[in-house]
Amino acid sequence: MGADLAEVLITPDRLQSRIAELAAQIDTDYADRELLLVGVLKGAVMVMADLARAMRLPVQMDWMAVSSYGSGTKSSGVVRILKDLDCDITDRHVLVVEDIIDSGLTLSWLVRNLQSRGPASLQVCALLRKPSAARVDVAVAYTGFDIGDAFVIGYGLDYAERYRNLPFIGTLAPHVYGGGPDNAAVSGAALGAAGNAPGGSTGEHVVT
Ligand code: IMP
Ligand code: MG
Repeated sequence: MGADLAEVLITPDRLQSRIAELAAQIDTDYADRELLLVGVLKGAVMVMADLARAMRLPVQMDWMAVSSYGSGTKSSGVVRILKDLDCDITDRHVLVVEDIIDSGLTLSWLVRNLQSRGPASLQVCALLRKPSAARVDVAVAYTGFDIGDAFVIGYGLDYAERYRNLPFIGTLAPHVYGGGPDNAAVSGAALGAAGNAPGGSTGEHVVT
């Protein structure tokens, strides 16, 4: 495992202190409302669990899983629901909890889909945001960390379904995904898709 890791980008302590800040902010913002947290499987499992426990407000939690059709190097934004919410969100206050926003195509689709169900309010909390997310039309109310373009793993995030259980966010050593040192900063979208569909084949892949 150690040799697969290029560097630790965000330590467990920094993750927890930033999540505590976000939780306090969300507590304040939703003080007089009942909040439903919607986690996007699987990447958001860790942040959802820690965020919910850092909050003082009682919250409810539900989960969605989605897959995206892509070229194998990019998510296309054509999304299919693999697991829908268990509950009806009509007139509910909903906060979507995401692990990372890269191109933002998946999140943008998800927000449109959830908005069509008539929630009382709908906001997004993302632990990590990559530079390309700046071009996205989705407003993210709560962001943990703005990071660079390097592919990151750990704390819920995977490469080919591995490394999700690392307690920190790290970058992957280039040899793990077959890149040389010059490819170390290859875009997350490219690797995200390859990670979900090893071999980079064309077709459907789970993007979260
Ligand atoms: P988007 O539609 O391009 O924003 O794709 C977002 C999804 O791609 C995330 O939910 C992740 O599953 C995956 N992803 C993007 N960047 C990374 C990364 O650096 N590490 C792991 N997964 C990533
Ligand atoms: Mg995700």
